[in-house]
Amino acid sequence: TQQRITVIRGDGIGPDIIDSALQILEKAGCDFAYDFADAGLMALENHGELLPQQTLDLIEKNKVTLKGPLTTPVGEGFTSINVSLRKRFQLYANVRPVLSFKGTKARYEDIDIITIRENTEGMYSGLGQVVSADGKEAEAMSKITREGAERIVTFAYELARREGRKKVTAVHKANILKSTSGLFLKVAREIAEQYPDIESTEMIVDNTCMQLVMNPHQFDVIVTTNLFGDILSDLCAGLVGGLGMAPGANIGKDCAIFEAVHGSAPDIAGKNLANPTSVILASIQMLEYLDMGDKAERIRNALKDVIESGDRTTRDLGGEHGTTDFTAAVLERL
Ligand code: NAI
Ligand code: MG
Repeated sequence: TQQRITVIRGDGIGPDIIDSALQILEKAGCDFAYDFADAGLMALENHGELLPQQTLDLIEKNKVTLKGPLTTPVGEGFTSINVSLRKRFQLYANVRPVLSFKGTKARYEDIDIITIRENTEGMYSGLGQVVSADGKEAEAMSKITREGAERIVTFAYELARREGRKKVTAVHKANILKSTSGLFLKVAREIAEQYPDIESTEMIVDNTCMQLVMNPHQFDVIVTTNLFGDILSDLCAGLVGGLGMAPGANIGKDCAIFEAVHGSAPDIAGKNLANPTSVILASIQMLEYLDMGDKAERIRNALKDVIESGDRTTRDLGGEHGTTDFTAAVLERL
């Protein structure tokens, strides 16, 4: 049966980069049926809410969603749509691969690191947010569960095994955050024993930041809690040329959402200037999730060749072309 995919074009540059990705998927021979759904500013205008019920229903029904960046209006009491989606569908694993392309402004070559960030608990659980009446004290609660730690660490090892990766590094701060990070590390050590075919290391988060900048080639798969993963995954994107070059997947037991990790870039929206690489890489992640690795590989090679040869690249990559020219260059190679 034909795979149906929910597509949220998103705000700002979203429609341009999503259309680029959809053309590329079609050219690579992917026979998907798409259900388009609104979220973000577009949904607020069309349906009076940021995340309409029909969008939630489509995400649930099709199980697989490709999503452009969404604008969350600031200071109007709106909670982040991305956080709502992660909670609602229990998308507990945030998978953030980074891969370097030659000839970009990236600081390193041959980077190939995947950060697996726990996406639902830890410092971002939203629990116990209190500011005292006099405004002089603020509190928030971090919660780690054995179940949550087990499922994310197991996810990381299973991914490592499936992709033939050699090493998993558990990143923590158990020396200071003895209860929460301590439990995460304890569980990580237990799970590591079940995977003797994979090298397991552990590293404290601040040292990890320094090591990633000084010697990133020592890393393969990183698994960590929510806040550390948020920061480390952006740091990793910086190693390969920035957020425009990095995709993200939010994966749960039943559902998955694949997305660009940058925002809606209102400064260049509607100008045909956006680099679609991040969302093209997200669709490659989606193909791998759907066991369509051969098509994923074809698209990755075409994209790599365009970027590395500098044929019709966008301004952020040092070229002087727009989204449509860049897309045409990838399509030609396919
Ligand atoms: P941003 O990522 O939209 O833009 C930061 C800078 O990077 C801008 O100069 C932009 O032009 C540039 N940029 C981003 N993506 C690009 C691309 N594909 N090609 C070329 N240049 C690109 O971050 P900003 O400005 O902080 O946020 C703008 C809006 O996006 C906000 O409403 C924010 O809430 C939302 N946002 C949404 C995210 C999501 O849905 N996943 C993630 C981050 C921000
Ligand atoms: Mg982040």
